[in-house]
Amino acid sequence: GDQPELDLKKYIREIPDFPKPGILFYDISTLIRNADAWQIATARLARAIAPWQPDLLAGIESRGFLTAAPVAMRLGCGFIMLRKPGKLPGKTIALKYGLEYGQDELHIQEDAVKPGQRVVVLDDLLATGGTLSASIRLLQNVGAEVVGTSVLVELDGLGGRDKLDVPLHSLLTYPA
Ligand code: PRP
Ligand code: MG
Repeated sequence: GDQPELDLKKYIREIPDFPKPGILFYDISTLIRNADAWQIATARLARAIAPWQPDLLAGIESRGFLTAAPVAMRLGCGFIMLRKPGKLPGKTIALKYGLEYGQDELHIQEDAVKPGQRVVVLDDLLATGGTLSASIRLLQNVGAEVVGTSVLVELDGLGGRDKLDVPLHSLLTYPA
């Protein structure tokens, strides 16, 4: 079970100047390679998300998959993928967005969601909010009711939270 006193920040490694000079990278590899820390992190995310009563969880390629899929399993929800270009078969809908370091594009299968299904989007990290806000719009464009978003790590001070028009839960917060 959860160990309420356990500080998950101890398992997140901070790597300066990655992937570019001046960027401090919060590395979740060291959290997910620790069985206990990963169990506890996904349990805490599931507990925070459960009250939104989602039908589906959506994960954002690629680190968002690691965050979202185990939480979907815990909640008994289906899982849908928001993917980078050229990866999803069938008809997809795309959205371009600005990233902390560069530009990117996400796709979703147009039939991923039934009209009005309640969806929670998860990602590992919120920085500028470009990725998460694009994901929300994309899901809304295919008929989802996006009832919340959740991240393992929120960088506070880059305006990410203000860019979202749905509730945000974050497990760990760091100053940007
Ligand atoms: C990173 C991170 C988030 C996003 C956060 O993903 O995993 O998805 O950036 O930044 P933002 O809030 O400024 O949009 P990245 O595109 O680097 O790829 P990855 O998940 O495939 O590693
Ligand atoms: Mg990502």
